[in-house]
Amino acid sequence: MTKDEEKFAGGVAVITGAGAGIGSGFARRAGELGMTVVVTDINGAAAETVAQQIRDAGGKADAMVVDVSKPSELDRLADEVYAKYGSVRLLINNAGIETIGYTWEIPADRWEATLNINIHGIIHGVRAFVPKMLASGEECWIANLASIGAFGQMPTQTAYMLTKHAIQSFSECLYLEMELKGAPIHVSSIIPGMIKTSIFNADAGEGEPAAAAGHRKAMHDMMANYGMDLAEGTRVMLEQVAANKFWVSSQPDMTEQTLAGRIQFLQTQANPQIADGARHLLEH
Ligand SMILES: NC(=O)c1ccc[n+]([C@@H]2O[C@H](COP(=O)([O-])OP(=O)(O)OC[C@H]3O[C@@H](n4cnc5c(N)ncnc54)[C@H](O)[C@@H]3O)[C@@H](O)[C@H]2O)c1
Repeated sequence: MTKDEEKFAGGVAVITGAGAGIGSGFARRAGELGMTVVVTDINGAAAETVAQQIRDAGGKADAMVVDVSKPSELDRLADEVYAKYGSVRLLINNAGIETIGYTWEIPADRWEATLNINIHGIIHGVRAFVPKMLASGEECWIANLASIGAFGQMPTQTAYMLTKHAIQSFSECLYLEMELKGAPIHVSSIIPGMIKTSIFNADAGEGEPAAAAGHRKAMHDMMANYGMDLAEGTRVMLEQVAANKFWVSSQPDMTEQTLAGRIQFLQTQANPQIADGARHLLEH
């Protein structure tokens, strides 16, 4: 039996943004492991499709429409899940969007959406679920989606990068809060490198400056050509969550290389620098 089967089988999993991409991969894997999966997404049809895939494969799943940018929807989600399924064993705060464009050219609405989904969506997921997790007294797991971008610098992906830096910090401090409290709640920071998903699809960039389209297309093509397989990426990451790892990577070599660059930047107090190989993405 694998670690994730041992820890997660029979438990309830709640995953945000699970109608596509990494969230859907985690949802299908959680279903395979024998969890009851609450597949949530702002796109109800997409969430239902993933829930149906899990049921077709012999698993247990329900879909719910949840917009993580609204704290009240996360409160409602936690209330409904605990009332219907009982204690939650695994919460994955996954929903996130990429936003491309010069800082001053991104419309206010797209700025608000990026900060509300990528930062507040995770904070309020934790705020809504942790009191119920603590009250249950049971061992459980919270995994928050950071990114390799949490340690890097990238002009015109500023809006995205800053949210991931913020979430890495949030998860580090949350981990320590659990330790201080003596809570049986494990916290992981999930750091995908590059996994094939729909995050750089053209329609996901609605509301970005028009000039961002070329950069978005270049990122999309790079992901299509070099990204890791979704099912494999989410399988290896969920295994690390079950093993109580704080640092969870899809591509550990990429994480190590990025961290080494970050360490050098901090140690030498160098000026910010465009990463080797990134310039061609920006010249569109
Ligand atoms: N794909 C990668 O290589 C990669 C790398 C690093 C980090 N990440 C992170 O992984 C997470 C998932 O990304 P992905 O690549 O699977 O993206 P994706 O675009 O393929 O899927 C994101 C899902 O989130 C949903 N969503 C969007 N706004 C929402 C909202 N307000 N409320 C609820 N759901 C919403 C979308 O409908 C979609 O189903 C994000 O946090 C992203 O930053 C991805």
